[in-house]
Amino acid sequence: MAEHHFGGIKIRHLYKIFGPNPAAHVEAVQKGLTKTELNQKYGHVLGLRDINIEIPSGCIQVVMGLSGSGKSTLIRHINRLIDPTSGEVLVDGVDVVKMNETELRTFRRQQTAMVFQKFALLPHRNVLDNTIFGLEVQGMERAKAIDIAMRWLERVGLKGFEQRYPNQLSGGMQQRVGLARALANDAPVLLMDEAYSALDPLIRTDMQTVLLDIQKEIKKTIVFITHDLDEALRLGDQIAILRDGEVIQQGTSQDIVLRPADEYIANFVKEVNRGRVVHVEAVMTPLHAGAAPVGLAIAAGTTVEEAVRMLASTPADDARVVTPSGETLGLVTFRQLAGAMVNSHEVADRRDNTLSVAL
Ligand SMILES: Nc1ncnc2c1ncn2[C@@H]1O[C@H](COP(=O)(O)OP(=O)(O)OP(=O)(O)O)[C@@H](O)[C@H]1O
Ligand SMILES: [Mg+2]
Repeated sequence: MAEHHFGGIKIRHLYKIFGPNPAAHVEAVQKGLTKTELNQKYGHVLGLRDINIEIPSGCIQVVMGLSGSGKSTLIRHINRLIDPTSGEVLVDGVDVVKMNETELRTFRRQQTAMVFQKFALLPHRNVLDNTIFGLEVQGMERAKAIDIAMRWLERVGLKGFEQRYPNQLSGGMQQRVGLARALANDAPVLLMDEAYSALDPLIRTDMQTVLLDIQKEIKKTIVFITHDLDEALRLGDQIAILRDGEVIQQGTSQDIVLRPADEYIANFVKEVNRGRVVHVEAVMTPLHAGAAPVGLAIAAGTTVEEAVRMLASTPADDARVVTPSGETLGLVTFRQLAGAMVNSHEVADRRDNTLSVAL
């Protein structure tokens, strides 16, 4: 199959105000009127303020934030279940906001698929018929639809359950059906609003693994909403943190753990298992080009936890950090790795040092 790069999303200067006359207040909000002021003085609710997010095709964008921070409002703009008060939502360069009814219907059907927290399965259809539902709506021939559905059901671990009904399945299995149904549509953009929030912790972790495994093959553009930091850090290639309708930090897991933008985020990341998030480059001592290539090699991008595991299986106390082409970037010791797992500030400081040394 030809490789495609569809599904990149750009959100630009997106504002959403809820109330009887949103347009009348957008300028004041742009000039800095707060959510509380807008509510108290004018009886309108600020949903989103000046959201700017660029999601490359094939990337998992996590949007995180507390209840009421605007996560659902944001994701619902991407397939225009909500019209913005102002701003642009470009998917593959086309502004969803400007589409007419017909264009919008085609766009929703062909470009986007959604996975819901409540699974949204049809109770009187079995697993297979739930999975082919979207394909049926598209008018696909039944035999072909079944073929595609069976493939995705197998991929999410539901082979043998095709004839079961939703009420005969656990929550985790129902969510697998929801995922298979979304994937069967083969839309380049996958929208997941708290898709895993109703699942038990172990099942939730399983489902994260399923998604990450599948994403390696399908490389969809996934917008994944969660209020769970561990889930965000595990899934997100990029993470945006919302508060009161504003993005207060955007970056990779590592950016957010190592350099939280403020006290609020610092509090969130305090309890995080850093070993799973921080990469070896952030803690190593850089070496000058041409340094002798000896000892165990660990690829740049390896997590601290994984590096500890690798080092522990050898007699060595340190290892080289290398690029994919085998060039040595630096040396990392057990002590540095252990330090990274327990102390955020030390890592951050060390990173600043290594940066200044590298420069
Ligand atoms: N239709 C609406 N009318 C008025 N206010 C709304 C509407 N929809 C959302 N809001 C408000 O917009 C803000 C953002 O809500 P939203 O549902 O996007 O938050 P959320 O981050 O998804 O929260 P949760 O984690 O509870 O799902 C809240 O203040 C909410 O009360
Ligand atoms: Mg929500």
